[in-house]
Amino acid sequence: MNSFKKLPLSYQFTLLLLALAVIAAIGGYLIGASVYVSETRNQARTVADMVDNFGQWATRYRGVWVKDDPRDPKFDVGSFLEREVATAPVALGGDSTTAPNAAAFHRKNPALVQRELSDITMASPAKAKFRMTSDHFMNPNNAPSEFDKVAMRVIRDAGVTEYSEVRGGQLLYARRLIADKGCLKCHGAPAAAPAAVTALYPGPQGYGYEEGKLAGVISVAIPLEFSVLGFIQRFDGQVWAALAAMGLGVIGLLVFIHQQVIVPVRRVRAFALAASNSEPGAKVEKVDFIEGEHTSANEIHELNTAVKAMHMSIDYLYRKMMKR
Ligand code: HEC
Repeated sequence: MNSFKKLPLSYQFTLLLLALAVIAAIGGYLIGASVYVSETRNQARTVADMVDNFGQWATRYRGVWVKDDPRDPKFDVGSFLEREVATAPVALGGDSTTAPNAAAFHRKNPALVQRELSDITMASPAKAKFRMTSDHFMNPNNAPSEFDKVAMRVIRDAGVTEYSEVRGGQLLYARRLIADKGCLKCHGAPAAAPAAVTALYPGPQGYGYEEGKLAGVISVAIPLEFSVLGFIQRFDGQVWAALAAMGLGVIGLLVFIHQQVIVPVRRVRAFALAASNSEPGAKVEKVDFIEGEHTSANEIHELNTAVKAMHMSIDYLYRKMMKR
Protein backbone atom coordinates (compact mmCIF):
# COMPACT_ATOMS: atom_id res chain seq x y z
CA MET A 1 0.00 0.00 0.00
CA ASN A 2 2.84 2.35 0.91
CA SER A 3 4.54 1.85 -2.44
CA PHE A 4 1.20 2.65 -4.12
CA LYS A 5 0.91 5.83 -2.03
CA LYS A 6 4.42 6.84 -3.11
CA LEU A 7 3.54 6.68 -6.80
CA PRO A 8 2.87 9.94 -8.65
CA LEU A 9 -0.79 10.92 -8.30
CA SER A 10 -1.32 10.52 -12.07
CA TYR A 11 -0.20 6.88 -11.81
CA GLN A 12 -2.39 6.30 -8.77
CA PHE A 13 -5.42 7.67 -10.58
CA THR A 14 -4.66 5.65 -13.71
CA LEU A 15 -4.28 2.44 -11.67
CA LEU A 16 -7.54 3.15 -9.83
CA LEU A 17 -9.34 3.81 -13.10
CA LEU A 18 -7.94 0.59 -14.61
CA ALA A 19 -9.16 -1.35 -11.55
CA LEU A 20 -12.57 0.33 -11.94
CA ALA A 21 -12.63 -0.58 -15.64
CA VAL A 22 -11.92 -4.23 -14.82
CA ILE A 23 -14.66 -4.25 -12.16
CA ALA A 24 -17.06 -2.57 -14.60
CA ALA A 25 -16.21 -5.13 -17.32
CA ILE A 26 -16.77 -8.08 -14.97
CA GLY A 27 -19.96 -6.47 -13.66
CA GLY A 28 -21.16 -5.79 -17.20
CA TYR A 29 -20.47 -9.39 -18.17
CA LEU A 30 -22.33 -10.74 -15.13
CA ILE A 31 -25.28 -8.43 -15.79
CA GLY A 32 -25.25 -9.49 -19.46
CA ALA A 33 -25.16 -13.18 -18.50
CA SER A 34 -28.06 -12.79 -16.11
CA VAL A 35 -30.14 -10.84 -18.65
CA TYR A 36 -29.36 -13.55 -21.20
CA VAL A 37 -30.56 -16.29 -18.82
CA SER A 38 -33.74 -14.41 -17.98
CA GLU A 39 -34.41 -13.78 -21.69
CA THR A 40 -33.89 -17.49 -22.37
CA ARG A 41 -36.32 -18.26 -19.52
CA ASN A 42 -38.86 -16.04 -21.29
CA GLN A 43 -38.30 -18.02 -24.48
CA ALA A 44 -38.93 -21.23 -22.52
CA ARG A 45 -42.17 -19.73 -21.18
CA THR A 46 -43.23 -18.96 -24.75
CA VAL A 47 -42.52 -22.55 -25.78
CA ALA A 48 -44.55 -23.84 -22.81
CA ASP A 49 -47.43 -21.48 -23.74
CA MET A 50 -47.35 -22.80 -27.28
CA VAL A 51 -47.41 -26.45 -26.08
CA ASP A 52 -50.22 -25.58 -23.68
CA ASN A 53 -52.26 -23.93 -26.42
CA PHE A 54 -51.62 -26.76 -28.82
CA GLY A 55 -52.90 -29.20 -26.18
CA GLN A 56 -55.97 -27.03 -25.65
CA TRP A 57 -56.63 -26.97 -29.36
CA ALA A 58 -56.52 -30.80 -29.44
CA THR A 59 -58.69 -30.95 -26.28
CA ARG A 60 -61.33 -28.80 -27.97
CA TYR A 61 -61.91 -31.69 -30.41
CA ARG A 62 -61.30 -34.36 -27.71
CA GLY A 63 -58.16 -35.34 -29.49
CA VAL A 64 -57.44 -35.44 -33.18
CA TRP A 65 -58.67 -38.09 -35.60
CA VAL A 66 -56.16 -39.18 -38.21
CA LYS A 67 -57.38 -41.03 -41.24
CA ASP A 68 -55.11 -43.67 -42.69
CA ASP A 69 -54.77 -44.39 -46.39
CA PRO A 70 -55.13 -48.10 -47.23
CA ARG A 71 -53.77 -47.44 -50.72
CA ASP A 72 -50.47 -46.11 -49.34
CA PRO A 73 -48.50 -48.79 -47.47
CA LYS A 74 -45.91 -46.21 -46.37
CA PHE A 75 -48.48 -44.07 -44.62
CA ASP A 76 -48.05 -44.42 -40.86
CA VAL A 77 -50.65 -43.12 -38.42
CA GLY A 78 -48.31 -43.68 -35.46
CA SER A 79 -49.68 -44.27 -31.97
CA PHE A 80 -53.36 -43.78 -31.32
CA LEU A 81 -55.96 -44.50 -28.67
CA GLU A 82 -58.94 -45.78 -30.62
CA ARG A 83 -59.56 -46.87 -34.14
CA GLU A 84 -62.79 -46.64 -36.06
CA VAL A 85 -63.17 -48.21 -39.46
CA ALA A 86 -64.88 -45.91 -41.87
CA THR A 87 -67.97 -47.11 -43.61
CA ALA A 88 -68.27 -46.55 -47.30
CA PRO A 89 -70.64 -43.75 -48.23
CA VAL A 90 -74.11 -45.24 -48.53
CA ALA A 91 -76.29 -44.38 -51.51
CA LEU A 92 -80.01 -43.94 -50.89
CA GLY A 93 -81.57 -47.39 -50.62
CA GLY A 94 -78.09 -48.94 -50.95
CA ASP A 95 -76.34 -51.58 -48.93
CA SER A 96 -74.33 -50.33 -45.94
CA THR A 97 -71.61 -53.01 -45.86
CA THR A 98 -68.13 -51.89 -45.04
CA ALA A 99 -65.80 -51.76 -47.98
CA PRO A 100 -63.11 -54.49 -47.74
CA ASN A 101 -60.14 -52.10 -47.59
CA ALA A 102 -61.97 -49.17 -46.06
CA ALA A 103 -59.97 -46.37 -44.46
CA ALA A 104 -59.89 -46.16 -40.67
CA PHE A 105 -59.80 -43.20 -38.28
CA HIS A 106 -57.36 -43.16 -35.37
CA ARG A 107 -57.82 -40.96 -32.35
CA LYS A 108 -54.82 -39.23 -30.89
CA ASN A 109 -55.55 -37.77 -27.46
CA PRO A 110 -54.15 -34.32 -26.59
CA ALA A 111 -51.15 -35.67 -24.64
CA LEU A 112 -50.28 -37.86 -27.60
CA VAL A 113 -50.62 -34.90 -29.96
CA GLN A 114 -48.26 -32.93 -27.72
CA ARG A 115 -45.89 -35.93 -27.52
CA GLU A 116 -45.75 -36.17 -31.30
CA LEU A 117 -45.09 -32.43 -31.56
CA SER A 118 -42.31 -32.92 -29.00
CA ASP A 119 -40.83 -35.79 -31.08
CA ILE A 120 -40.85 -33.59 -34.20
CA THR A 121 -39.18 -30.76 -32.25
CA MET A 122 -36.55 -33.14 -30.86
CA ALA A 123 -35.69 -34.32 -34.37
CA SER A 124 -35.69 -30.78 -35.82
CA PRO A 125 -32.82 -28.28 -35.71
CA ALA A 126 -34.92 -26.09 -33.36
CA LYS A 127 -32.88 -25.11 -30.30
CA ALA A 128 -35.71 -25.23 -27.81
CA LYS A 129 -36.78 -28.80 -27.03
CA PHE A 130 -39.70 -29.77 -24.86
CA ARG A 131 -41.46 -32.82 -23.47
CA MET A 132 -44.46 -33.66 -21.33
CA THR A 133 -43.60 -35.65 -18.28
CA SER A 134 -45.07 -36.82 -15.02
CA ASP A 135 -43.99 -38.84 -12.03
CA HIS A 136 -47.09 -40.92 -12.89
CA PHE A 137 -46.08 -41.45 -16.50
CA MET A 138 -47.95 -43.81 -18.82
CA ASN A 139 -45.37 -44.00 -21.56
CA PRO A 140 -41.87 -44.89 -20.30
CA ASN A 141 -40.49 -42.60 -23.03
CA ASN A 142 -42.02 -39.74 -21.04
CA ALA A 143 -40.28 -40.70 -17.78
CA PRO A 144 -39.04 -37.62 -15.89
CA SER A 145 -35.37 -36.61 -15.94
CA GLU A 146 -33.43 -35.70 -12.79
CA PHE A 147 -34.33 -32.06 -13.40
CA ASP A 148 -38.02 -32.88 -13.98
CA LYS A 149 -38.14 -34.72 -10.64
CA VAL A 150 -36.58 -31.78 -8.80
CA ALA A 151 -38.94 -29.38 -10.61
CA MET A 152 -42.04 -31.39 -9.68
CA ARG A 153 -40.92 -31.60 -6.06
CA VAL A 154 -40.29 -27.86 -5.82
CA ILE A 155 -43.54 -26.98 -7.63
CA ARG A 156 -45.50 -29.32 -5.37
CA ASP A 157 -43.81 -28.24 -2.09
CA ALA A 158 -43.67 -24.50 -2.76
CA GLY A 159 -47.00 -24.32 -4.61
CA VAL A 160 -45.40 -22.38 -7.49
CA THR A 161 -46.40 -22.55 -11.15
CA GLU A 162 -42.96 -22.90 -12.68
CA TYR A 163 -39.38 -23.78 -11.90
CA SER A 164 -36.14 -23.26 -13.80
CA GLU A 165 -32.50 -24.05 -13.43
CA VAL A 166 -29.25 -23.71 -15.37
CA ARG A 167 -27.78 -27.19 -15.72
CA GLY A 168 -25.16 -28.59 -18.09
CA GLY A 169 -25.03 -25.43 -20.22
CA GLN A 170 -28.79 -25.44 -20.70
CA LEU A 171 -31.67 -23.48 -19.30
CA LEU A 172 -34.16 -26.03 -18.02
CA TYR A 173 -37.68 -24.84 -17.41
CA ALA A 174 -40.76 -26.66 -16.10
CA ARG A 175 -44.37 -25.43 -16.14
CA ARG A 176 -46.87 -27.22 -13.92
CA LEU A 177 -49.81 -29.18 -15.31
CA ILE A 178 -52.77 -29.45 -12.97
CA ALA A 179 -55.09 -32.44 -13.24
CA ASP A 180 -58.70 -31.48 -13.90
CA LYS A 181 -61.78 -33.68 -14.03
CA GLY A 182 -61.24 -34.38 -17.72
CA CYS A 183 -57.77 -35.85 -17.10
CA LEU A 184 -59.16 -38.31 -14.53
CA LYS A 185 -61.17 -40.04 -17.28
CA CYS A 186 -57.91 -41.59 -18.42
CA HIS A 187 -55.44 -40.90 -15.60
CA GLY A 188 -57.78 -41.65 -12.66
CA ALA A 189 -58.32 -45.27 -11.67
CA PRO A 190 -57.27 -47.80 -14.36
CA ALA A 191 -60.67 -49.49 -14.03
CA ALA A 192 -62.42 -46.24 -15.03
CA ALA A 193 -60.12 -45.50 -17.98
CA PRO A 194 -61.18 -46.19 -21.56
CA ALA A 195 -60.30 -49.67 -22.77
CA ALA A 196 -58.19 -48.11 -25.51
CA VAL A 197 -55.97 -46.50 -22.86
CA THR A 198 -55.65 -49.52 -20.55
CA ALA A 199 -54.92 -51.72 -23.55
CA LEU A 200 -51.88 -49.58 -24.30
CA TYR A 201 -50.94 -48.76 -20.72
CA PRO A 202 -52.24 -51.40 -18.31
CA GLY A 203 -50.92 -49.49 -15.28
CA PRO A 204 -50.50 -48.96 -12.46
CA GLN A 205 -48.07 -46.37 -13.88
CA GLY A 206 -49.81 -43.32 -15.38
CA TYR A 207 -52.92 -43.55 -13.18
CA GLY A 208 -53.85 -42.14 -9.81
CA TYR A 209 -54.02 -38.45 -10.76
CA GLU A 210 -55.96 -36.38 -8.23
CA GLU A 211 -58.13 -33.46 -9.28
CA GLY A 212 -56.53 -30.09 -8.58
CA LYS A 213 -53.15 -31.68 -7.86
CA LEU A 214 -49.99 -31.60 -9.91
CA ALA A 215 -50.25 -34.02 -12.82
CA GLY A 216 -46.89 -33.38 -14.42
CA VAL A 217 -44.91 -30.66 -16.16
CA ILE A 218 -44.16 -29.29 -19.59
CA SER A 219 -40.38 -29.45 -19.51
CA VAL A 220 -38.41 -27.15 -21.83
CA ALA A 221 -34.64 -27.18 -22.50
CA ILE A 222 -32.82 -24.38 -24.31
CA PRO A 223 -29.01 -24.38 -24.74
CA LEU A 224 -27.25 -21.35 -23.25
CA GLU A 225 -24.67 -19.97 -25.65
CA PHE A 226 -23.21 -17.09 -23.68
CA SER A 227 -19.50 -16.31 -24.02
CA VAL A 228 -17.33 -13.20 -23.73
CA LEU A 229 -16.89 -13.14 -27.51
CA GLY A 230 -20.59 -13.69 -28.14
CA PHE A 231 -21.33 -11.00 -25.56
CA ILE A 232 -19.14 -8.47 -27.38
CA GLN A 233 -20.52 -9.53 -30.77
CA ARG A 234 -23.97 -8.67 -29.47
CA PHE A 235 -22.91 -5.03 -28.92
CA ASP A 236 -24.76 -2.79 -31.33
CA GLY A 237 -24.20 0.85 -32.26
CA GLN A 238 -25.90 2.05 -29.08
CA VAL A 239 -23.65 -0.01 -26.83
CA TRP A 240 -20.52 1.16 -28.63
CA ALA A 241 -21.74 4.77 -28.39
CA ALA A 242 -22.33 4.35 -24.63
CA LEU A 243 -18.87 2.80 -24.19
CA ALA A 244 -17.29 5.62 -26.23
CA ALA A 245 -19.10 8.21 -24.06
CA MET A 246 -17.83 6.46 -20.92
CA GLY A 247 -14.30 6.38 -22.38
CA LEU A 248 -14.50 10.10 -23.15
CA GLY A 249 -15.71 10.71 -19.60
CA VAL A 250 -12.72 8.84 -18.20
CA ILE A 251 -10.30 10.77 -20.43
CA GLY A 252 -11.99 14.02 -19.33
CA LEU A 253 -11.52 13.00 -15.70
CA LEU A 254 -7.82 12.25 -16.25
CA VAL A 255 -7.28 15.59 -18.04
CA PHE A 256 -9.10 17.42 -15.23
CA ILE A 257 -6.98 15.75 -12.54
CA HIS A 258 -3.82 16.53 -14.48
CA GLN A 259 -4.68 20.17 -15.15
CA GLN A 260 -6.40 21.05 -11.87
CA VAL A 261 -4.42 18.99 -9.36
CA ILE A 262 -1.12 17.64 -10.58
CA VAL A 263 0.16 20.65 -12.57
CA PRO A 264 -0.76 23.23 -9.84
CA VAL A 265 0.79 21.07 -7.07
CA ARG A 266 3.98 20.84 -9.12
CA ARG A 267 4.09 24.63 -9.47
CA VAL A 268 3.65 25.19 -5.72
CA ARG A 269 6.34 22.61 -5.08
CA ALA A 270 8.72 24.33 -7.57
CA PHE A 271 8.14 27.66 -5.81
CA ALA A 272 8.72 26.15 -2.36
CA LEU A 273 11.94 24.48 -3.56
CA ALA A 274 13.17 27.67 -5.27
CA ALA A 275 12.41 29.69 -2.14
CA SER A 276 14.23 27.31 0.17
CA ASN A 277 17.26 27.14 -2.13
CA SER A 278 17.47 30.91 -2.68
CA GLU A 279 19.91 33.28 -0.99
CA PRO A 280 18.24 35.03 1.94
CA GLY A 281 16.47 38.16 0.72
CA ALA A 282 16.68 37.18 -2.96
CA LYS A 283 13.57 37.67 -5.02
CA VAL A 284 11.76 34.46 -5.92
CA GLU A 285 9.01 34.49 -8.55
CA LYS A 286 5.73 33.77 -6.78
CA VAL A 287 3.00 31.56 -8.13
CA ASP A 288 -0.37 33.21 -8.65
CA PHE A 289 -3.12 30.95 -9.87
CA ILE A 290 -5.96 33.37 -9.67
CA GLU A 291 -6.81 36.90 -8.60
CA GLY A 292 -7.78 37.13 -4.91
CA GLU A 293 -6.40 33.72 -4.27
CA HIS A 294 -6.48 34.09 -0.47
CA THR A 295 -10.30 33.98 -0.58
CA SER A 296 -10.44 30.87 -2.81
CA ALA A 297 -11.88 27.64 -1.36
CA ASN A 298 -9.72 25.58 -3.73
CA GLU A 299 -7.34 23.60 -1.48
CA ILE A 300 -4.41 24.05 -3.85
CA HIS A 301 -4.90 27.82 -3.86
CA GLU A 302 -5.00 27.67 -0.06
CA LEU A 303 -1.79 25.66 -0.02
CA ASN A 304 -0.15 28.16 -2.37
CA THR A 305 -1.26 31.09 -0.17
CA ALA A 306 0.13 29.30 2.90
CA VAL A 307 3.48 28.58 1.23
CA LYS A 308 3.81 32.20 0.08
CA ALA A 309 2.90 33.42 3.58
CA MET A 310 5.54 31.15 5.09
CA HIS A 311 8.15 32.42 2.65
CA MET A 312 7.23 36.02 3.49
CA SER A 313 7.52 35.42 7.24
CA ILE A 314 10.92 33.79 6.89
CA ASP A 315 12.03 36.68 4.70
CA TYR A 316 10.67 39.15 7.24
CA LEU A 317 12.45 37.41 10.13
CA TYR A 318 15.68 37.38 8.15
CA ARG A 319 15.50 41.12 7.37
CA LYS A 320 14.72 41.88 11.03
CA MET A 321 17.70 39.82 12.12
CA MET A 322 20.00 41.60 9.65
CA LYS A 323 18.93 45.06 10.90
CA ARG A 324 20.25 44.40 14.40
C1 HEC B 1 -58.22 -39.75 -23.48
C2 HEC B 1 -57.34 -40.16 -22.42
C3 HEC B 1 -56.49 -39.09 -21.77
C4 HEC B 1 -56.90 -37.92 -21.21
C5 HEC B 1 -58.30 -37.38 -21.09
C6 HEC B 1 -55.70 -37.31 -20.72
N1 HEC B 1 -54.60 -38.06 -20.97
FE1 HEC B 1 -52.74 -37.68 -20.46
N2 HEC B 1 -52.10 -39.25 -21.48
C7 HEC B 1 -52.90 -40.18 -22.07
C8 HEC B 1 -52.07 -41.14 -22.77
C9 HEC B 1 -52.57 -42.31 -23.58
C10 HEC B 1 -50.74 -40.74 -22.59
C11 HEC B 1 -49.48 -41.37 -23.13
C12 HEC B 1 -49.13 -40.66 -24.42
C13 HEC B 1 -47.84 -41.13 -25.02
O1 HEC B 1 -47.80 -42.26 -25.46
O2 HEC B 1 -46.91 -40.34 -25.03
C14 HEC B 1 -50.80 -39.55 -21.75
C15 HEC B 1 -49.67 -38.87 -21.35
C16 HEC B 1 -49.72 -37.80 -20.50
C17 HEC B 1 -48.54 -37.14 -20.00
C18 HEC B 1 -47.09 -37.49 -20.32
C19 HEC B 1 -46.54 -38.47 -19.32
C20 HEC B 1 -47.09 -39.86 -19.53
O3 HEC B 1 -47.98 -40.20 -18.73
O4 HEC B 1 -46.66 -40.57 -20.46
C21 HEC B 1 -48.97 -36.13 -19.18
C22 HEC B 1 -48.13 -35.16 -18.39
C23 HEC B 1 -50.42 -36.16 -19.24
N3 HEC B 1 -50.83 -37.17 -20.04
C24 HEC B 1 -51.20 -35.26 -18.58
C25 HEC B 1 -52.55 -35.17 -18.78
C26 HEC B 1 -53.35 -34.10 -18.25
C27 HEC B 1 -52.83 -32.95 -17.37
C28 HEC B 1 -54.62 -34.30 -18.68
C29 HEC B 1 -55.82 -33.44 -18.46
C30 HEC B 1 -55.67 -32.03 -18.84
C31 HEC B 1 -54.59 -35.53 -19.49
N4 HEC B 1 -53.32 -36.01 -19.52
C32 HEC B 1 -55.70 -36.09 -20.07
C33 HEC B 1 -54.24 -40.20 -22.06
C34 HEC B 1 -55.04 -39.17 -21.62
